[in-house]
Amino acid sequence: MICDYNLLMDKAREASKMSYSPFSKFAVGAAVLAKSGKIYAGCNIENSSFGMTICAERCAIFKAVSEGEKEILAVAIYSPNEDDCYPCGACRQVMYEFQGEEEISIITDNKSNLNIRKMSDFLPYGFKI
Ligand code: THU
Repeated sequence: MICDYNLLMDKAREASKMSYSPFSKFAVGAAVLAKSGKIYAGCNIENSSFGMTICAERCAIFKAVSEGEKEILAVAIYSPNEDDCYPCGACRQVMYEFQGEEEISIITDNKSNLNIRKMSDFLPYGFKI
């Protein structure tokens, strides 16, 4: 499957505008390319009970899975920080669950260029039943 990394990052950036992050003021957006070819975007959604917060990546992945997707090919992550925004440990595990035969590409933006890395760079020896 051909992945337009720029398009996926555009969708992640767009989604970050919907972020509900009054506590951290850190607006994250993510966009997932599913095996079907469809793109699903999500943002971080915080809560007064802080532990209930969901990251942008899991929001996007759960949107995809709840629409019937079972396999994810790429995830773009955008934050307003100058540096790349890398996924947290929980999101890495959730991504790994939906990795199929093709290794997931993880795209980040350091505001000069996009970085494309593989799932195994972020989570080697991942757990799956
Ligand atoms: N956050 C994400 O949405 N994705 C990441 O990859 C890192 C962290 C969110 C969670 C919380 O709303 C805020 O960023 C600060 O941790």
